[in-house]
Amino acid sequence: MIAREQAALMSNYGRYPVEFVRGEGAWLFDPEGRGYLDLMSGISMINAGHCHPDVVAAIREQAGTLINTSNLYYTEPMVELAEWIRDTSMGGRVFFCNSGAEASEAAIKLARKHGGPDRTEFVSLEDSFHGRTMGALALTGQPGKQEAFRPLMPGARYVPRNDKDALRAAVSEKTCAIAIEIVQGECGVYPLDDDFVRLARQLADERGALLIVDEIQTGMSRTGPLYAYQDAGIEPDVMCLAKSLGGGFPIGAVTARPGIDAVFQPGDHGSTFAGSPLACASALAAAKVLGDPALQQHVRTEGACFLAGLQGLVDDGLAIEARGRGLMCAIELAEPRGADVVLAMLERGFLVNNTSATTVRFLPPLVITGDELTNALNALRDVLNES
Ligand SMILES: Cc1ncc(COP(=O)(O)O)c(C=O)c1O
Repeated sequence: MIAREQAALMSNYGRYPVEFVRGEGAWLFDPEGRGYLDLMSGISMINAGHCHPDVVAAIREQAGTLINTSNLYYTEPMVELAEWIRDTSMGGRVFFCNSGAEASEAAIKLARKHGGPDRTEFVSLEDSFHGRTMGALALTGQPGKQEAFRPLMPGARYVPRNDKDALRAAVSEKTCAIAIEIVQGECGVYPLDDDFVRLARQLADERGALLIVDEIQTGMSRTGPLYAYQDAGIEPDVMCLAKSLGGGFPIGAVTARPGIDAVFQPGDHGSTFAGSPLACASALAAAKVLGDPALQQHVRTEGACFLAGLQGLVDDGLAIEARGRGLMCAIELAEPRGADVVLAMLERGFLVNNTSATTVRFLPPLVITGDELTNALNALRDVLNES
């Protein structure tokens, strides 16, 4: 499989040496039937768990009825999903696309059109991640990812997370939008301070910029509330969603608060596939699972317990820091052996990933049980003790 993959696919991914053929809940199975406890959810992409029966049933039903029509016509699943996003977030209308990067691109174009010719700058955060297409990459405050692709879209400025003075200094009358993740995910799970998020809201209001909140990784109950901003005491002007919105099926969405949701007019933006009946039926089924308050309470309770377990590893000198919100967690190791820890966990049947040489990240499906999380913690303790 590895040789075939190398001969047929471009080498832009570093894959782990395992193949999966089946999934169920928090478990993935290799061709020999060995089960692996998934603590990654496809990078927070399948929060409802693998092959959730309601999602499978919705896809089967919709696939046999109508798969796609393009956006030339009306289809009900798209309208119903837009209503659900509108009614669970800022009350504004929705634009659909097919991925996280596409959601970032749509938010960028919306902010640029709203700002007009004199407001063309963006303020985002160092270490942020908003996607790998050219606009999203320009907002992604990681020079290493940008280097080979310069010149980038001009006008992006980056400030360190939680640095209020730097944020105050960066936002000006030229800023069309401030873009933040409430918890920075890709760089290793760094929650923003609530007062930094509130300052971003305040500066956007005072200086006439939009506040874009990227909930692509934090959304769909990953951190406890349906959207992470809901625990931070603010409302964005624009919110990006993707990943778990689709229950595993590709979809992205941008919603903007009423008024701002009128910026796009026919012809301003679009996508042939976007908002297909099939993607939206899958998303609606996932939304019922992930919007359930009982599941959200489970995320808060089990997330706190898991984070306490990770903190226990820190207290015992096996790691130097534990971070997290809900079931979005990471530990920081004293030595650069994150990749070894990931492989040792894989050998034991647990899927985690390292976001840097020293950071190991955990994004389990939200349906994972407390016992399964305890098993993962025990395996991690063994691995850290051994290496
Ligand atoms: C916060 C955030 N924004 C955007 C993206 C890009 O999403 P996609 O990979 O679907 O383009 C990601 C992906 O990891 C993400 O975590």
